[in-house]
Amino acid sequence: MMKMRVIAVIAAGLFSVATQAADGEAIYNKSCMFCHASGVGGAPRAHDEAAWKSLMDKGMPSLLQAVKEGKGNMPPKAMCSSCSDDDYKASIEFMAKKKAK
Ligand code: HEC
Repeated sequence: MMKMRVIAVIAAGLFSVATQAADGEAIYNKSCMFCHASGVGGAPRAHDEAAWKSLMDKGMPSLLQAVKEGKGNMPPKAMCSSCSDDDYKASIEFMAKKKAK
């Protein structure tokens, strides 16, 4: 357990060099991309505006709950045991917006 935490702290340190606290893109790259880039198991694809528009319409609290409790093929906590609510929110917002060029 200690080891995991140390690694998480180091990883967070690396990611925070260029950015502020919750960096949605970094979290996405680390924990969400695995499924949400290709749509594995029916995952809404990152930057698929239509798909995310209807999800965002459900409201962030509902999406946060789905991520934390798991939904369908998405495991609880979405493979990010160290993520805070703000981390999840930032990564959800990152997936919901158009891909930056
Ligand atoms: C192991 C694969 C996997 C990973 C990793 C994963 N997801 Fe998902 N996600 C899914 C799948 C599959 C669904 C569709 C679930 C369904 O509707 O049955 C989904 C759905 C969602 C939804 C919509 C929930 C809803 O209410 O319909 C959100 C928001 C989401 N994921 C966020 C995230 C975030 C944020 C991360 C990274 C921190 C992440 N996911 C990582 C597989 C994954």
